Amino acid sequence: MRSALLRFSPLVIAFSLLACDPRDNAPADAGTDAVRDYRAEPFEPTDATRAYCGDADDDAIEARITEILSTLTVDEKVALMHGSGYSSSDRAWRVPGNERVGVPGFRMLDGPRGLSRFTRVPATAFPVAMMRGATWDPALERDVGAAIAREVRSIGVDVLLAPTINVLRHPRWGRAQETYGEDSHHMGELGVAFVQGAQAEGVIASAKHFAANSIENTRHEVDVVIDERTLREVYLPHFRRVVIDGRVGSVMSAYNRVNGLYCDQQSHLLTDILRGEWQFAGFVESDWVLGTHGDVDSLRAGLDVEMPFGPNFRRLPAAITSGALDERELDASLRRVLRAQLCFGLDERQRPVDEPSVRGSAEHLALAREVARRGIVLLRNDGGALPIAPGATSIALLGRNADAENIGDLGSSSVIPQGVVTALEGLGERDGVTVTHVPGTTLDAAGEATVRAADVVVIVTGLDSDDEGEADIAAGDRESLALRAEEVALIRAVAALHDRVVVVLEGGSAITTGEWDGDIEALVLAFYPGSEGGRAIADVLFGDVSPSGRLPFSIPAQESDLPEFDNVSHTVDYGYLHGYRHLAANETPARYPFGFGLSYSTFTLSELALSSERTTATGTITATVRVTNTGTVRARETVQAYVGARGSSVTRAPYDLRAFAQVQLDPGTSETVTLAVRAEDLAYWNETSSRMEVEAIEYELRVGTHAEDARLTATFRVE
Ligand code: BGC
Repeated sequence: MRSALLRFSPLVIAFSLLACDPRDNAPADAGTDAVRDYRAEPFEPTDATRAYCGDADDDAIEARITEILSTLTVDEKVALMHGSGYSSSDRAWRVPGNERVGVPGFRMLDGPRGLSRFTRVPATAFPVAMMRGATWDPALERDVGAAIAREVRSIGVDVLLAPTINVLRHPRWGRAQETYGEDSHHMGELGVAFVQGAQAEGVIASAKHFAANSIENTRHEVDVVIDERTLREVYLPHFRRVVIDGRVGSVMSAYNRVNGLYCDQQSHLLTDILRGEWQFAGFVESDWVLGTHGDVDSLRAGLDVEMPFGPNFRRLPAAITSGALDERELDASLRRVLRAQLCFGLDERQRPVDEPSVRGSAEHLALAREVARRGIVLLRNDGGALPIAPGATSIALLGRNADAENIGDLGSSSVIPQGVVTALEGLGERDGVTVTHVPGTTLDAAGEATVRAADVVVIVTGLDSDDEGEADIAAGDRESLALRAEEVALIRAVAALHDRVVVVLEGGSAITTGEWDGDIEALVLAFYPGSEGGRAIADVLFGDVSPSGRLPFSIPAQESDLPEFDNVSHTVDYGYLHGYRHLAANETPARYPFGFGLSYSTFTLSELALSSERTTATGTITATVRVTNTGTVRARETVQAYVGARGSSVTRAPYDLRAFAQVQLDPGTSETVTLAVRAEDLAYWNETSSRMEVEAIEYELRVGTHAEDARLTATFRVE
C-alpha cells in the first residue's frame, strides 16, 4: 500500500488550488477592444483542413478565422490559447472565448471511462478502457465513445479528454486501465472507434498523451530515450490512425520528455510528424499543471493551448513586443484553436446545458453491462467448473473485492457512479441461489464450514485504487505484478477445502497467477467492470453468456519475463520489444498469452485462404478463414492474424498483430471471416531513407486465437 502522504504532493495541492481559483468564471484576460492595423495572412486550405471541418463550410470558416485574427489584439489572441482553470459554473476546465468576435472557447473534461468525478456530477461508470480493449470489438467501443460523449455533453462539455492511447509497455504502469492494451494495431482500431463515436455526438475527442507516456511515478521528469524505429513502429502507429482515420479533433501532449525534450516542446513529434506527415489540422493542448515548459519554445514546437492556466503562454505578448516571436506564428497556432471551435459548431450551441436524464440512463447502464459481459476473460476452466451448474444453489463468496464498489483509479479518469452493483449484489440477485459472504482474508471455523458446505466457492479479489492509478493524485505505479500475499494465502486455504473454486480477479492489467492458479478450478479476469459490474460477473459465471473477452496484454509466468519496469530513473530506454513481441523474441511462453481467452464453447478454424500470394507495398492481402462452433452454446470467437517478416534487413519482432475479426455463432454453425492485412502496416522505419518502407520480401501469416497460436499459416510476398 502506498503512503497516504502521496495524496498531498505538490501537484495535488496545485490541483486543489486550481479548482477554487478566484479567477473561476472571470472573463478572459482583459483584452482591449481597439482594432489594430494588422492584416492576418491569407490562408490556403488543404485536404486536411477541409477534411477536419467535415460537413461544415470550411471556406467560410477559414475566411471568418482570417477576419477574426485581423480584429483581435495580441492580448486577446493569447487569452484564447490558455485555460482559465476549472469553472464550477460550467463544470468543466475552461479555455475562454471572446464574445466580441463570437468565439466560445472550450469546456474540457475527462475522460476515458465516463464523466469526470471532478464535477461531482453522478454518471455512468463504464468499464475501464482496458476491459473494453478485451472485447476486441471496435463497434462496441464506438457505442461507448458516443455514450460517454452524450453524458459529458449533457452538462455542456465540448472537449472530451479521451481516449488514452498509450502503449501498455509494462503492466505495472499505474494508468494501465485507461488504455486499451499492449499492441498498437489493436489500440488503433479501438481508439479510432472511440473517437468516431464521440465526435459523431458533436464532442471533440482528445487523444492523449502524445507520446511515449507509460510510467506514472516519474511522469513529470522522465526522459524516454527511444530510437526512431521504435517510436515509428511501436509508439506512434495508433496515434497516426486516430489522426488520419479517426480525424480526432485534438491531441494532448504528454508530461514526459522524449529524447531530451518535454513533449510540449518536442517539435519532432508535434510539428514534423503530427502536423507535417500526418497533416493534423486540429489543436494540441498541454497536459495539466506541469505539462507546459516554455512559452515561445512550446508554441513553436507545436503546442496551441496551455492548460489549465497560462503561466507560460501569458508571456507570449511580451515575446511579440520584443521581436522574439512573430505575430504570424501566433496566428498559425490560434487558427487551429478557432478551427476546432467553428468546425465543430461550438459557437452555435446554447448554454448553459443540463440534461440529467442522459446520465446513467437505462440505455447507458445496459451498454455498460453489455461491455462488461463482453470484456470478462475466462483464463482457466478445469473440468467445466464454469458455468455454475443449474443445480448449484449455494455459493460461498470471499475475497477483498467481493462486496467492493471497485470501479478503478481515483485519478483524472475517475467517475462518480450513480450506483455500483458489487459482485455480492450481482450474484445475490439470482433466483434460487443463496450467496453467503465470508469477509476477511483468514478463515475461522465458521468460514471453513461455509466454504465446505457450498456448492461453489467464488473468490473476488485482485487490485483496487490503493494499488494502481494516476501518480500524484492517486496511487501511481504498481509495486509488483503479484496478488497480495494474504489473498494468495486465502485462495490456497480455500482450494484445500473445496474442489470447485472460482477466482475472479479485478484490476487494470496483468496479475501474475502462476504460483497458485493450478490450485483452483476456474480463473476469470473482470478488470474494473463499471457501474453494472457485479451483474456482468453473474451473467458470465451463471452462463447467460459465454465469455468472449480476450486478453489485450500478455500475462507472463513471472514479472522477470518482461522487460524491466523502471519508474525511478530519470532516463529510461524504451526498447523495441515489449509484451508478446518480447516474449516471442525470447521464446518464453506467457502464462496467458496476448489475445487469449476461453469460451463455454469450442471452435475450429480451417480453410485459410489468401486473396493472392503477392501484393504491392500499397496493396492488401485478404485472408479468409472458416470458423465453426463445435460446442454446445452460442458463443463468440476472435480470430487474429499475426504477420512476421522473413529475411528482413533489420531485426524485427517475430510477429505482430495485423488484423482481427470477431464472429458469433450458434452451436454447429460456421462462418467465413475475412482478415484484411494492409501491406503498409508491415512497413519498418528505414533509418537511411528516413521513411516507413515496406520491404519486398516474404511474410508469414499466422492465424489463430491468440499470439502463440499458429495453427494456420500461409506466406505471401510483397513486391
Ligand atoms: C492527466 C490527464 C487529464 C488531465 C485533466 C492530467 O493530470 O494526465 O490525462 O486529462 O490531468 O484532468
